Amino acid sequence: MKIIVANWKMNGDLRFVDKFIEEINSIKSKNIVVVCPQTALIGRFYNFHYHLGAQNCFCVENGAFTGENSPKLLKQMGCKYVIIGHSERRMIFNEQDDLIFQKWKVATDQKLIPIVCIGETLENRNNWKKVISKQLNLFLDKPLGNTIFAYEPIWSIGTGIIPADNEIISAFEFIKDLLGQRIPLLYGGSVDSKNARSILSFNNIDGLLIGRASLKISEFKKIIQI
Ligand code: PGA
Repeated sequence: MKIIVANWKMNGDLRFVDKFIEEINSIKSKNIVVVCPQTALIGRFYNFHYHLGAQNCFCVENGAFTGENSPKLLKQMGCKYVIIGHSERRMIFNEQDDLIFQKWKVATDQKLIPIVCIGETLENRNNWKKVISKQLNLFLDKPLGNTIFAYEPIWSIGTGIIPADNEIISAFEFIKDLLGQRIPLLYGGSVDSKNARSILSFNNIDGLLIGRASLKISEFKKIIQI
């Protein structure tokens, strides 16, 4: 059984949302399937048969923070998971390691399962160990509970470029050596129905984080049925 998470970046038509929910509800999967839509859509998933997650949360559980999303409310809206520190949050919204750590803490307090994303940019491709060690540093001596991590090389997200098999395998070995073998670790970056099976066959890979391919219903169906 693998963990299949959709970072479901759907910004378009509500009719598509309803169709997606209906079609995914109609199939069976032996995997743990989690769909993370943007916050505005979370209520629309009230009848979703699989797990629901958020793409982000604020670093304080509640209070006057116009425009931010309270992890406490996300939980009450039916989210079981929350993605934290996605590279788009890190790069576009300038989220730093300490903020991401605060978000992890508050999500954990709210009993949400955090999916913490890590990964290096193209410029840092040769320095990936250093980048990943820095991103993980605050987590290393903490009780990680059921936290999930996702290794997503930023140069692979949305590009169709997948690291070589040996690159994925050594990154996974390195990260699991730091975090402990027990901690679930997902791979993300240009996963589709054609490459998903072979990525999942590598040792130590607990699942996948999927962007674009989760927006194609037929693709996503194939992946969750692996
Ligand atoms: P991708 O996106 O699968 O389209 O590369 C991954 C992500 O958004 O995390």
